[in-house]
Amino acid sequence: MAEVTPQQLADAAGILRAGGIVAFPTETVYGLGANALDAAAVAKIFTAKARPTFDPLIVHVAAVAAAWELVDPDWWEKPATAAARHARDTAQLLATSFWPGPLTLVLPKRSTIPGIVTAGLPTVGLRVPGHALARQLIAAAGVPVAAPSANPFGGISPTRASHVRVPCDALLDGGPCGTGLESTVVGFQDDGQPAVLRLGGISLEALTAVLGAEPITLGQSQIDASTPGVAPGMLTRHYSPRTALQLITGPTQLTAADVGGRRVGLLSLRGDVNRDLPLAHIELLAPRGELTQAAARLFEALHTLDAADLDLILAELVPEEGLGRAINDRLRRAAAQ
Ligand code: TXA
Ligand code: MG
Repeated sequence: MAEVTPQQLADAAGILRAGGIVAFPTETVYGLGANALDAAAVAKIFTAKARPTFDPLIVHVAAVAAAWELVDPDWWEKPATAAARHARDTAQLLATSFWPGPLTLVLPKRSTIPGIVTAGLPTVGLRVPGHALARQLIAAAGVPVAAPSANPFGGISPTRASHVRVPCDALLDGGPCGTGLESTVVGFQDDGQPAVLRLGGISLEALTAVLGAEPITLGQSQIDASTPGVAPGMLTRHYSPRTALQLITGPTQLTAADVGGRRVGLLSLRGDVNRDLPLAHIELLAPRGELTQAAARLFEALHTLDAADLDLILAELVPEEGLGRAINDRLRRAAAQ
């Protein structure tokens, strides 16, 4: 397990305060952070990732109270309508239930947050990460930290320090990420009802248990880059290896003809596959099929397959339940042309 020294942490916090960019672990994926209140620093993130600026960033804070300080005070303290009050109260309920953790809440922003962070939107995505090192870094920096996943735009998210290949001023190695999928993003509709904008590390079932009813999930795969105010987490093609990737539903049905003369790799939940198939590489996500374990391994397995010099990656969809929904969402986007 990697160890970050107090000196490395203090240095990274100093770099953030001075307007630099730092790659750091969270429980979901590694982030590439900058001082969220410094537009010039945030601009460096977009350059390092080659990320389009229509795509808003998530702002990370060390404690729940610090998140509310970044919300529009008029909306927060004196919600004008019953719908706004419902949204605020629901946000508080979700924060109490899931922060620190893999949940991002999209709420009306305070005017101090520069437009580059939110891609000009009037809302901001807020999150208190579950990884202690991430919170220590943010607390030591003394500023909120805007951070997307630390991968080149559209690529596979990093779940280990060695996956981080974007330029940055410092990289903190906190070992492998425990959750392995990005945060679940929840916003609020005009009627005050919560809506899932991106599936992620908090399952729909867990949200439903707290909310008392299943929140709507916006049909993300119909949205594309030309839709105004849409972010890459919502783009159809994302999380993509360089190698072609094709989805399959059951590896047991694979035959030698599916492989042909090519170097084919398989991403499989449990590896229920005919061992005689001439596969060049197999990555198992979870031998006993636990979806939490599969989620934690997903991006690492995709990185490994992408580095295995294959002609094709076949990826098995997993059961559409719990974190399996978010795993399948990432796989469908990785397969999209
Ligand atoms: O787990 C995570 O969320 C990781 C770690 C580093 O915290 N971060 C992450 O950031 O996945 P990124 O930039 O790769 O994805 C951020 C997504 C956007 O693509 C968008 O879907 C959503 O968060 N988002 C952020 N701000 C938003 C806003 N104001 N309105 C709607 N969606 C927003
Ligand atoms: Mg990302």
